Amino acid sequence: MPKTVPIFIANWKMNSRLVESMQYIKKFRRYMLNNLVGSEVVICPPATLLRDMAEKVPGTGVRLGGQDCYHEEKGAFTGDISAQMLKDMTCEYVILGHSERRKYHNEDNKLIAKKAETAHGCKLKTIICVGETKEERKNKKAKEVVKKQLLGSIPKSATGKNLIIAYEPVWAIGTNTTPTPEEIGDMHLYIHKILKSHTNAFEKTVRVVYGGSVNVENAGGILDAEGVNGLLIGRASEDVEAFWRIIQYIG
Ligand code: PGA
Repeated sequence: MPKTVPIFIANWKMNSRLVESMQYIKKFRRYMLNNLVGSEVVICPPATLLRDMAEKVPGTGVRLGGQDCYHEEKGAFTGDISAQMLKDMTCEYVILGHSERRKYHNEDNKLIAKKAETAHGCKLKTIICVGETKEERKNKKAKEVVKKQLLGSIPKSATGKNLIIAYEPVWAIGTNTTPTPEEIGDMHLYIHKILKSHTNAFEKTVRVVYGGSVNVENAGGILDAEGVNGLLIGRASEDVEAFWRIIQYIG
């Protein structure tokens, strides 16, 4: 499968405060302006930082993303953030169905599909996360689980341009354990196959990125694995040097 220009997505989760994030982006901005980066770079900070980040990223090539959005366009939904609000903050992307949302907020495939449809309606690109638990992998159910998540959480509004799939094995997130590059390649090729055969009207191949304990040491090997079009990075992306070094593997 031919390699596309990789995309690197930083997921800061509920980390980083205003001062830290401004120091981070100042440094990152300098790196980006002084170096030619061929890759696409997306940072998904907590929503409270988006406005300040939006002022700092223009001209650097960094794009912004939200970590979640609500499935309705607007209304009486205290505490929630709409897709249009993310768009107003200059976000181009939104992560949906992260395993932490599936686990702590009981999000299921149907809800994620609805969120994705609403996000697509606002012209946001969605990064839909899928991945099996340790138990499911042990019982040789990983592919079955991932297939069900894919078919259940991708809405009809998805195209090759507005959808990215993140394969994030739940057992690899935050644990410092990852599947081998061969195992990652095997799952990524499987996901590409499912996407091609079960979803229509994709003008081009949907990108499939890997996430779960990516760090400076293992990023290159994972990026070289078959069918891997980029990385979704949690902890290592909070450290500006580490994130920059990861991007340098290709950029
Ligand atoms: P991690 O998180 O890189 O810290 O394992 C990845 C993620 O949850 O997206």
